[in-house]
Amino acid sequence: MGYSVRAIADSELVDWVSAMHTAFHSSSSADEVARFRVDARQQDVYRTLASFDDQGRVVGTYESFTAQLTLPGVEACLPANAVTSVSVLPTHHRRGLLRRMIGEDLQAAKERGEAASILIAAEYPIYGRFGFGPSTEQVEYRLQTAHAKFLAQASGSVELVSAERMREVAPTVFDAVRRTCPGQIDRHAIRWDVRLGLRPAPWRGEHETLRCAIYTPSSGEAPTGYVLYRVKADWRNHVPGGRAEVEELMALDGDAYLGLWRYCAELDLVSEVTAELRRVYEPLPWLLADARKAVQELSRSDFLWLRPLDTARLLETRRYATADRVVIEVDDPLGLSGGRFALEGGPDGAQCRDTTESADLRLGVSVLGAIALGGNDLGAIAAAGRVEQCTPGATGRVARMFAWPSAPWCSTFF
Ligand SMILES: CC(C)(COP(=O)(O)OP(=O)(O)OC[C@H]1O[C@@H](n2cnc3c(N)ncnc32)[C@H](O)[C@@H]1OP(=O)(O)O)[C@@H](O)C(=O)NCCC(=O)NCCS
Repeated sequence: MGYSVRAIADSELVDWVSAMHTAFHSSSSADEVARFRVDARQQDVYRTLASFDDQGRVVGTYESFTAQLTLPGVEACLPANAVTSVSVLPTHHRRGLLRRMIGEDLQAAKERGEAASILIAAEYPIYGRFGFGPSTEQVEYRLQTAHAKFLAQASGSVELVSAERMREVAPTVFDAVRRTCPGQIDRHAIRWDVRLGLRPAPWRGEHETLRCAIYTPSSGEAPTGYVLYRVKADWRNHVPGGRAEVEELMALDGDAYLGLWRYCAELDLVSEVTAELRRVYEPLPWLLADARKAVQELSRSDFLWLRPLDTARLLETRRYATADRVVIEVDDPLGLSGGRFALEGGPDGAQCRDTTESADLRLGVSVLGAIALGGNDLGAIAAAGRVEQCTPGATGRVARMFAWPSAPWCSTFF
């Protein structure tokens, strides 16, 4: 059977959505979702690929868009090719259709000048072969309110606000946080509208009401944090045991962070607060007298995967924890971003150039993706045999350069 891969025409969007829904086992209406994608998201059909069978039916889907990705270092951002909506019908999978779609898209992204590609993998084993490495982790926490004795009190105040008011506050706070946090990406206006319920989304089911609260410092200046949450009420034997689910909590400083977490922990009729898509080293336990009893990690997993497309630019844009000069050889089976690179970098800046010098370290492009945002311990990856050290001590030097004091964190699902 002959297959073709190309960008879809506007008229093919409903079929495209329908195929994706089948592959993802989604029951949402393809018509409504397609309309939403055109009207609200203004989906770029130029970057919406499909695989077609020999009768012109859509059997595979793929979409990409440009996102601003934060790298380690103050305001070190880079346009990245963000990949989403990847699917192949179960009747046509394992015939190389994803390989064809991703091959075309990564090549196009490189030609557009995007130095990296990012995605959230539905399953861990899919994307390593295409040069992606797991670069951030996400944790779901549970705070048991009965044990949440805070060591300090915030000085500002928390105020419940409307979704419209939150729409004014949250993007500014989020943007300031994400610009300094490696792994975060920018958010388009439509994502805020949908998240806050200001624009109906066809896939949105029945949920508890979204509550919006903002934190204002005692100085009375602009809000420095916000929390979005829903409460699932629960009563057993006439004892209240509700669960507050934090959809997002963002703070510009420690005072706002403390104030917002205390607010959540002190909600009446709530016995636990859960929060997912949080970072690995969350300050929350350090606010508490008995973190062991009060806070549990409910789950922890890889989240954002990164694939270098322009190795020199990617490595040059970020900053490094220690100043050093190393030659790294990158092996890229897809031939997009491999080669030998002389990297000289430190906390204040970096330069990276192609070189013919002999390498200090050899690694695969997916391993480079895994450490590019400052997460993952290169020593552990080397201990697993995934790195070849050519100069004594090189693994440790590169590990110390690439590691970043704050673990990378992406809190946007796409
Ligand atoms: C994941 C999916 C898109 C793969 O599409 P596909 O057309 O079957 O992939 P390909 O045939 O191009 O496979 C390329 C390689 O990846 C492997 N692979 C593909 N999907 C895999 C999976 N889910 N687990 C493990 N390996 C996988 C194939 O075995 C093949 O390996 P090879 O190169 O050694 O031969 C498809 O199975 C799917 O739609 N799954 C459900 C939705 C989903 O999970 N989408 C991903 C969202 S991030």
